[in-house]
Amino acid sequence: MLTHQKIRQKFLEFFEQRGHKIVSSSSLLPNDQSVLFTTAGMQQFKPYYTGQADAKKDFDFLNTVSIQKSMRTSDIDEVGDETHLTFFEMLGNFSFGGYWKKEAIQYSHDFITKEMGLRIGHVSVFEGLPSAGVPVDEESEQIWKSLDSNIVVKKANIHDNFWGPTGNEGPCGPTTEIYLDGVEVWNIVFNEFYYSGSREELLSGKSSKKLDKLKTLGIDTGMGLERLTMVLQHKNNIFETDLFEPLTQSIPNHFDLRTKRIIADHSRTIVFLSSEGIIPSNKEQGYVLRRLMRRIMALNISEDIIDSVINTYAEQYPELQAKRREIHNIYSEELVKFNKTLRGGLNELKRLEKVDAVGAFRLYESFGLPYELIKDVAKDRAKDLAREAFDQEFKKHQEKSRAGAEKKFGGHGLLLDTGELRAGNEEELKKATRLHTATHLLHASLRKVLGEEVKQAGSDITAERLRFDFNFSHKLTSEELQKIEDMANETVENDYKITKEEMSYEDAIKSGALAFFKLKYPPTVNVYSVGDFSKELCGGPHVSHTAEVGHIRITKEEAVSAGVRRIRAVVE
Ligand code: GLY
Repeated sequence: MLTHQKIRQKFLEFFEQRGHKIVSSSSLLPNDQSVLFTTAGMQQFKPYYTGQADAKKDFDFLNTVSIQKSMRTSDIDEVGDETHLTFFEMLGNFSFGGYWKKEAIQYSHDFITKEMGLRIGHVSVFEGLPSAGVPVDEESEQIWKSLDSNIVVKKANIHDNFWGPTGNEGPCGPTTEIYLDGVEVWNIVFNEFYYSGSREELLSGKSSKKLDKLKTLGIDTGMGLERLTMVLQHKNNIFETDLFEPLTQSIPNHFDLRTKRIIADHSRTIVFLSSEGIIPSNKEQGYVLRRLMRRIMALNISEDIIDSVINTYAEQYPELQAKRREIHNIYSEELVKFNKTLRGGLNELKRLEKVDAVGAFRLYESFGLPYELIKDVAKDRAKDLAREAFDQEFKKHQEKSRAGAEKKFGGHGLLLDTGELRAGNEEELKKATRLHTATHLLHASLRKVLGEEVKQAGSDITAERLRFDFNFSHKLTSEELQKIEDMANETVENDYKITKEEMSYEDAIKSGALAFFKLKYPPTVNVYSVGDFSKELCGGPHVSHTAEVGHIRITKEEAVSAGVRRIRAVVE
């Protein structure tokens, strides 16, 4: 039997032997902030398709191959069936002008049939979209037929056979897909367009956004490791493969099959999300993590399950091993919170004759009872409760609390809107404020030491640490890091006063203040300056003198994706 380790190795080697550079998985937290999670292997390569970055320069190759950690929440309600997951791994080969349809189809055909010895059930190609000027993909059909005259080629529409864009805009194009035993396993995307809107806008057919031809034709493929492993190991479903076996073994037998699968799926996702430093919360990624955790906590699952996951993946992802304790801590802290409120919530739920969206959300908000648990426990009494109505209540609540937070942070709220800074109480707020000023000092120091090519790509601040992402081409040397840290600390010691000026966005940019290109700014903005050392458009809050920041220490420097570096730092 081919183990999952062997399958990984064969895939990478197959493409390496055909001129692809092996690139490691990027983080589950994407650089592209318009999406919550990394959903596909192509995400870290987006700039290479558009010509913003040069693959030849960064990888020495025009083609890459990777196994990408991925996460999709859109299928969350499907989890429990035979093939759907929240976390999964994606095998993919990519080309940025290196090859096109003929090679891409030939490679995938040869990998499946010759290397893996499998029979292709059928393939699908794009039926075209005349209204957008995209013709039927006859070329792909012919290539398939030339490789295997008996192959069954089906046509499919834009919903099934047109990929992307991910996020607010991006590369996209028709696909051809390979089915094994009726299961879609491999998606080969021909990135020939750039769409200036989201996928939803594209599918609506009503948007005036444009579908432009890309200068360079790109290949982007994605094959679910779990699904391929299922077929290769002759299993009926993904949960019987060796990616899940050790895990499902550790789940008590009294649960029904569906629940067991949910536990297996969620515990993997919990481990991978926690290993990326996500903390359960009521917002964004943190909310997803909380929801998954509470779902399995409500089932009283032993924390040992975390170790089963880590052990299965320790070889491929050594960081899981290194973060074992941290992951357990995140889990147990949430468990304490959950247990405290759960009992009260369940009692409250018992008293309700009928559970509607308002009641369910109140139970969620006050006691942390997740929607699914309420549905499960209340059964008939919650039969009219719909996910959409619950989400609607949730949204209303988020808007209210955001307005409240903006008031507290001085009315501007610009950065809070991005979720850059998080603080739960006054004490955390003080610490996060120091870290926020430290972020400005480090940003300015990075530019002074490394050059103006450094541009902010993301920023995230909690009461414990700051995390700053920036565009830069190579790993920082320890001398560079030292210089940057020293420069920022020198500014702290000089005890500059921090000034805030309100001006029009245009004047702010003219004055040389740094802005974060990913944000939409209002016409009037605040500009925070630290002497003439740093000047940035910003919503605050900041300390009033740099000495209040304390000593800044950079704790880590790493790559987030191609061309994007990340530093973490603390203040002491
Ligand atoms: N980007 C291709 C896929 O994820 O299927």
